[in-house]
Amino acid sequence: MTMHEANESTVVLAIETSCDETAASVVMGGNDVLSSIVSSQIEIHARFGGVVPEVASRAHLESLIPVINSAVTEAGIAPSRIDVVAATAGPGLIGALLVGVSAAKALAHVWDKPFVGVNHLEAHLYAGLLDDPTLQFPLIVLLVSGGHTMIIEMRGHGDYTILGRTIDDAAGEAYDKVARYLNLGYPGGPVIDRISVEGNPTAIDFPRAMLHDGLDVSFSGLKTSVINYVKKNPDVSNVDVAASFQAAVVDILCIKTLRAAKKIGARGIVLGGGVAANSLLRAEMTRRGEAEGFKVALPSRAMCTDNAAMIAAAAWHRYASDGPTDLSCGAYPNLKLAAVPR
Ligand code: KG4
Ligand code: ZN
Repeated sequence: MTMHEANESTVVLAIETSCDETAASVVMGGNDVLSSIVSSQIEIHARFGGVVPEVASRAHLESLIPVINSAVTEAGIAPSRIDVVAATAGPGLIGALLVGVSAAKALAHVWDKPFVGVNHLEAHLYAGLLDDPTLQFPLIVLLVSGGHTMIIEMRGHGDYTILGRTIDDAAGEAYDKVARYLNLGYPGGPVIDRISVEGNPTAIDFPRAMLHDGLDVSFSGLKTSVINYVKKNPDVSNVDVAASFQAAVVDILCIKTLRAAKKIGARGIVLGGGVAANSLLRAEMTRRGEAEGFKVALPSRAMCTDNAAMIAAAAWHRYASDGPTDLSCGAYPNLKLAAVPR
């Protein structure tokens, strides 16, 4: 492996456009966040009940330059101080990814700086390390977002094994689908999180699938049970359904993550992805994890949902180990966790 010049003063400008947030960030030395700007398209997509890919690409095109300008201005550095330009190269929506990758490659070319294509999933793992650089390997990372649910063993930089994953819906997808059925709007996670506080989490005993075997999870049956329950009991209160659904999701995620942590003798448990912003998941993982003697790291909510600071952190590490990415790099909608964009 060739070592490249990446040290405490290396400044990375990173761009994130894989889904419905247009984001740019300037990070020095891999963990000193000088600026992190996120422009959300949630309002634009909410009226369609979900992200519309073509609408997302157009919105990225409109916001990206102002978002990059704000990130550089807020960082308080001259553009000439930027050493590396990075962008998410996958996975994500192809048109959305292309906007960020093209912009980053153009800037790298014009400024004559190296370009680094970043794996979005790897970046979610780095969000935890960005917030707490004292974390020690091996770590168990629970990555729970709208598109992914994975329990990952992280033994070192770039060294991962996926120990468990969802066999059907992602955790965030389950939140979004249940919220949609209950007419709570999009995205569902934050609303269910908020209203569950008013509900009784033990009101309905929803099933916890595959709880006793292995590290894989399943949420599709849970979603169907919620729908069937509401059909049979039309007068049930939304807050009790939300709280009971959320209790089941969090129970499954905590039990499986702790099982994985014990299995590998982890030195810490880290949460990542949009669902890691969930209040009950944060509280329960901390309580149950610490009771078993594990250090539980909760990145700030802003670091859990999509942002470009985590892209910059991952880019810094990839640049140090693998050097720049060729400008022929494309956008890869189905990029797997361990894959490095080329
Ligand atoms: O990581 P993310 O911002 O985008 C993807 O890469 O998917 O995750 C978005 C997902 C959505 O499904 C949203 O409903 C969920 O994260 N989410 C939450 C919360 N905030 C966002 N789920 C539960 N509780 C929350 N507080
Ligand atoms: Zn994400």
